[in-house]
Amino acid sequence: MINQNINRFSPLVRIGGWGFFEIIVKKNFVVRSEEETANFAKIVASELFPGDIICLEGDLGAGKTTFTQGVASGLEVPDDQYVTSPSFAIMHQYDGKIPLYHFDFYRLGMVDEIIDLGFEELFYGEGVCVIEWAERAEEILPRNCLTIHLSILDEQQRKVEISWSDDLWQKKIDAIFSKLSS
Ligand SMILES: Nc1ncnc2c1ncn2[C@@H]1O[C@H](COP(=O)(O)OP(=O)(O)OP(=O)(O)O)[C@@H](O)[C@H]1O
Ligand SMILES: [Mg+2]
Repeated sequence: MINQNINRFSPLVRIGGWGFFEIIVKKNFVVRSEEETANFAKIVASELFPGDIICLEGDLGAGKTTFTQGVASGLEVPDDQYVTSPSFAIMHQYDGKIPLYHFDFYRLGMVDEIIDLGFEELFYGEGVCVIEWAERAEEILPRNCLTIHLSILDEQQRKVEISWSDDLWQKKIDAIFSKLSS
């Protein structure tokens, strides 16, 4: 279903903020509809565990909230808890089989707000964090996130670029893509 034009191994090396080397692995593919984005997210959700963090990047309307709705569905968040953009609240919590913390940093002023509101501990907590506009608080996010960058190609199609640098994510990504191709 998903056009798997995937760069299986396109490792990039970047020097982390603290001077260590980090191998970043990327995969790219195209989704052709809102339903494909949500379905992909649902499959991602099937591999999530407490403490996992997904950083969503991309322009307004790229599909970050749509992706989060798919994650919520995969985590069995009840339908009556509709996942909307939490811009004004910075974070909404949903009760799925694992708690889902949905952040949106679009209107974030300074990263200190996250710390002042006590949200930082949620990055190391019992739930899954999905963060829209994560790039706005990069400096306080743990390094072992899965980053998903969505780009608008046309009205229906989105380019999905996934990157990670952690062995645990590598295993999850392998499982996710084997589910997608089956
Ligand atoms: N392939 C696709 N994947 C996701 N959304 C799509 C796709 N094709 C069309 N759309 C439409 O694009 C819009 C995506 O909106 P969404 O709120 O998910 O974006 P967003 O990235 O969260 O934006 P914002 O930065 O404003 O929060 C929806 O109206 C959806 O119907
Ligand atoms: Mg949104």
